[in-house]
Amino acid sequence: MVIKNVKALINDGGFGKIEEVLCDDGKYYARKTFCPSSQFISNPTLCATLRQRFIREVKTQKMLPEELFIPIVFEDLTSPDPWFLMPIAEDVYINEISMCKHERRLPKGLGDILNSLEFIHNRGLIHRDLKPQNILYHIGRWKLADFGLISQDKEILSQTITTSHNALGTVMYAAPEQIKDFKRVTPLADIYSFGAILHDIFTDGSRVPYSELSGDGEIGAIIERCTKNNAAHRFKNVDALRKRVLYYLSKDSIKTDEAGDEKWVQLIRKFDTWDSDLFENFVFYLKRNPRSRDILFEMGSEIIDFFYALDKDLSNELSIIYCDWVYSRAFNFDYCDVIIGLIFKIYEKTSDLEVKSKAAISAAELGRSHNRWYVMGYVIKMAGKAIDEHLAFRISLELELEDQNIENFKRCARGINLSINSYHPIIKETLSR
Ligand SMILES: Nc1ncnc2c1ncn2[C@@H]1O[C@H](COP(=O)(O)OP(=O)(O)O)[C@@H](O)[C@H]1O
Ligand SMILES: [Mg+2]
Repeated sequence: MVIKNVKALINDGGFGKIEEVLCDDGKYYARKTFCPSSQFISNPTLCATLRQRFIREVKTQKMLPEELFIPIVFEDLTSPDPWFLMPIAEDVYINEISMCKHERRLPKGLGDILNSLEFIHNRGLIHRDLKPQNILYHIGRWKLADFGLISQDKEILSQTITTSHNALGTVMYAAPEQIKDFKRVTPLADIYSFGAILHDIFTDGSRVPYSELSGDGEIGAIIERCTKNNAAHRFKNVDALRKRVLYYLSKDSIKTDEAGDEKWVQLIRKFDTWDSDLFENFVFYLKRNPRSRDILFEMGSEIIDFFYALDKDLSNELSIIYCDWVYSRAFNFDYCDVIIGLIFKIYEKTSDLEVKSKAAISAAELGRSHNRWYVMGYVIKMAGKAIDEHLAFRISLELELEDQNIENFKRCARGINLSINSYHPIIKETLSR
């Protein structure tokens, strides 16, 4: 790719600059070029390390899926000032923060950010520089960018991390352990930064760097939990954090105003005291009162474990009610990720083929109707090549019964750039008829 001209400077950071450039394919891109500021140029050893870090940044970013991260379209890593091209992002998360405050609405994109974060954490990586400036909007999603500090190489990090935090004002988002002891930094440092972003959104955002943060009400409690000084007291991972945050964001749409509902909501919160009689009453209540099913927003992974240990048959009945509820209700876009976690939990927990196939079918409906990439991946997992032949048969049967379900399965595969070949051969055959 040849650069025809530089149209504008987008950003000039301490280590590199971002420019809008026109290339010989007639398109505009964002080019990031390694270009340490004058304060570093006088130190050639540091510059060499920074250059190495930049190259690692590019190599890492290239391996990440573009559904969750800003992709790299072209790179030149051999030039003395290495550079790479990205698509031009449509927006930066700082703007979403000020817009949602201005319009007095809930923020968009928190689910996207958590998915990107979970992806790297699951692979043993830590972003280390999570902040609104490094979250960009591209083709319908908020994606993480700027992997300058993602390097796992302690040597490189030790020489550059404090410099970069000071140079770039990241102090407002970095966890306390990031200045004290960079070696012991874990993914919980990113959880701290996420808490600082919530602090920007839900409070006036004024704070002392590296301190414990808080705010009002339930979201305040979430911010506190994210930003504990002692990392061991924070949410233990993205999954636990996601549940709390997305539940908070969806709450307004939850309708549990039937007279008996509140009683059940309170009881579910003390689920570990239940016996099978109470459990049976609960299942009976949900069957008799379909309009009360939003109580199911209270469900969680530990509750499913507890119920399955208490009574398998009742749990299977409850699971079917749960799957039907998911099939027929619309959810907050981000909240789908919590729901699919529970659907998958049910799928794994049960040995009943009807429950398993209902779980897969409702997952496909959820994924298709909300166009949620994260959910679609689970559908492939639940109906993929590795599943048991009897289950594949059972899912196929459900598919045959409803054209809508066939369409959903096809759309889920297409939605994540796969084809029906990714499904179990028996299911594939049903889908290709
Ligand atoms: N692909 C892009 N499209 C548009 N703007 C971008 C893009 N990449 C970065 N930027 C802008 O440039 C800023 C700095 O980019 P970043 O990669 O974070 O560099 P640095 O390492 O200097 O922080 C970002 O906060 C964003 O505002
Ligand atoms: Mg940045």
